[in-house]
Amino acid sequence: MHSTIARLLGVCTLLTVPSALVAQEDATGVVKERMDLMETQKDAMKVLGAMAKGQAPFDAAKGAAAALEIETTAAKIPELFPEGTVGEPSEAKPEIWTQWDEFTADAEQLKTAAATLKAALDGESPEWKAEFKGVIDACKTCHKTFRVKKEQ
Ligand code: HEC
Repeated sequence: MHSTIARLLGVCTLLTVPSALVAQEDATGVVKERMDLMETQKDAMKVLGAMAKGQAPFDAAKGAAAALEIETTAAKIPELFPEGTVGEPSEAKPEIWTQWDEFTADAEQLKTAAATLKAALDGESPEWKAEFKGVIDACKTCHKTFRVKKEQ
C-alpha cells in the first residue's frame, strides 16, 4: 500500500516538472507567435512596396490581399502581448504595459490604415500609394515607442 502511494507521489512529481516546462514554453510560444505575425506583416509590406516602387507589376487583387493580411493580423497584436513578456530574445519594451492604451491604439491605427489601403486597392484608386504610406507610418509609430530596435 505504502509503496503504491509512494509510486503515485513519484508519478505526481514527474508530472509536475514537465508542466513547469510547458509554462516556460508558453512564454516562448507567445513571443515567437508575435514575431511570426510581424514577419507575416513584413512579407505583405514587401509585396506592396515592390508594387509601389514599380519593381513589380501593379496587381490590385494581390495588393488588396496583402492589405487584408495586415488588417487581420493587426487585430491580433494586443492578445499576443501578455504582461511582462520582455527580455531576450524579445524586442518588446516594458512601456507596452505602462502605456497599454497607446499600444492598443497603435495596433488599431494599423488595422484602420490597412483597411483604408485595401479599400483603395479594391477600387483601383491611384490614391493607394498614399494609403500605403499611412500603413508604413502605423508600423513605425508603434515600433518607435514600443520596440527596442529602432528599425522599420
Ligand atoms: C502596436 C504596435 C506595433 C505595430 C502597429 C507594428 N509592430 Fe512590429 N513589432 C512590435 C513590437 C513590440 C515588436 C517586438 C516584438 C518582440 O520581439 O517581442 C515588433 C517586431 C517586429 C518585427 C521583428 C519580428 C522578429 O522576428 O523579431 C518586424 C519584422 C515587424 N515588427 C514588422 C512590422 C510591420 C511591417 C508592421 C506594420 C505593417 C508592424 N510591425 C506593426 C510592435 C508593433
